[in-house]
Amino acid sequence: MSLPEEEIYIKNTPGSKAYFERISKVIPGGVNTAIQFFRPYPLYMARGFGGKLWDLDGREYVDHCLAYGAMTAGHANPIIIEAISEQIKKGTLLGFQAEGALELAQEIIRRYPFVDMLRFSNTGLEATFYAVRLARAATGRKLVVKMEGCYHGASDVLMISDKPRRRVQLGSIHNPASTPDSLGTPEEVVKQTLVAHFNDVGSLERVLKKHENEVAAIITEPVLTNSGIIPPEKGYFNEVRRLCDEYGVLLILDEVKTGCNLSPGGGSQLYGIEPDLVTFAKAIGGGAPLAAFGGKREYMEMITPLGGVVHYGTYNGNPLSIAAGLASLKKVMTDAAYAKINRLGDELYKGVVDAIADTGIKAAVGRCTMMGSIFFGLDEPPKNYREASKCDAAKWGRYWIHMLNRGVIPAGSAWFEEWMVSAMHEPEDIEKTIQATYDTFKEIKD
Ligand SMILES: Cc1ncc(COP(=O)(O)O)c(C=O)c1O
Repeated sequence: MSLPEEEIYIKNTPGSKAYFERISKVIPGGVNTAIQFFRPYPLYMARGFGGKLWDLDGREYVDHCLAYGAMTAGHANPIIIEAISEQIKKGTLLGFQAEGALELAQEIIRRYPFVDMLRFSNTGLEATFYAVRLARAATGRKLVVKMEGCYHGASDVLMISDKPRRRVQLGSIHNPASTPDSLGTPEEVVKQTLVAHFNDVGSLERVLKKHENEVAAIITEPVLTNSGIIPPEKGYFNEVRRLCDEYGVLLILDEVKTGCNLSPGGGSQLYGIEPDLVTFAKAIGGGAPLAAFGGKREYMEMITPLGGVVHYGTYNGNPLSIAAGLASLKKVMTDAAYAKINRLGDELYKGVVDAIADTGIKAAVGRCTMMGSIFFGLDEPPKNYREASKCDAAKWGRYWIHMLNRGVIPAGSAWFEEWMVSAMHEPEDIEKTIQATYDTFKEIKD
């Protein structure tokens, strides 16, 4: 039996339904990344502009998913279109470095002053993969510590304890388990990734002490964005830095989603974090596939051809992505754009909090500048994944479909994703989202 909101969804989206039936015969699940799949079937979009998307049936949606953090510049941003169009005329892939790579690297370094050098890649997965490889080479150690519930891309080494749900997968609170999220992960690889709790210095220290002289790196986001939005507690990163120095471990800050999004200098700037290595993707490409990893010169000079750490890729630093990234960071994501995004982000946050209070629905909100997420069934915003995972995921699923039916993509497609605001959203978009939130909360309250 489908829920009434699912029936409305099916009635609203015959084009997506028909397309899903055809595409799922040749592409597993009808999507090329599982996060885009949801029941009864995914939405298929025809186009986007600014803060909106239009589906195959021509229905309009205010978009707060923003391609999971990649489209902060806004869909089909005219400035980025112009930059890409100019580059297309000069060639899309030359087999030699793109001329704009220097200026884009300098712009990222301006925003992240602790970065001496960086290398471009294409996806967040690549950036975190290479950062881990570099940390292992630099320390001569092989273990990596990650935070439970954190996603850093789907590579074997980091696709561990991303979303453990059952007790056996979680392990005890004092000894969180390393659980592979994918079949096909060799046991030997699983053992190399250890798990700690975010915002819990004791849990990190326990792991480092137990595996003294074996841990190469700790990788974490500055603000968790893949367990809902969970900001760091005051002083947390000072302690993480202290522990890294004490145990000779490199700190890798994963700014793939937060970078150039939460602020011009991402979470590092907001919380004054100085990692050894940092990873970027999403917003730095203005919608084109672009990623980077960077950090202190002593480590970056270990990369081939200067040193022995391999980093290869046909499309690394390709001219199209560099052109889009340059236009985005230099021309779109200006101080004025961040001010606008944050203003609209404040309004959205306030609207959601008011809707919770006014409708009496039980929910807590996690928030950091323009990103936010709703944890249904919780009284307080959680401090780490384990607390967050106690939220009512089924209610979140109903909220998602209700919001789609009202023409709003409220966040990425799962409870652990977040809402965002782009440089092209307008106040009317936020008003529509808040109204839809009120109407939805009234429907799903009980
Ligand atoms: C924090 C974080 N790191 C890494 C990744 C992987 O990025 P990509 O999807 O570009 O491989 C993601 C993707 O959502 C992410 O949120």
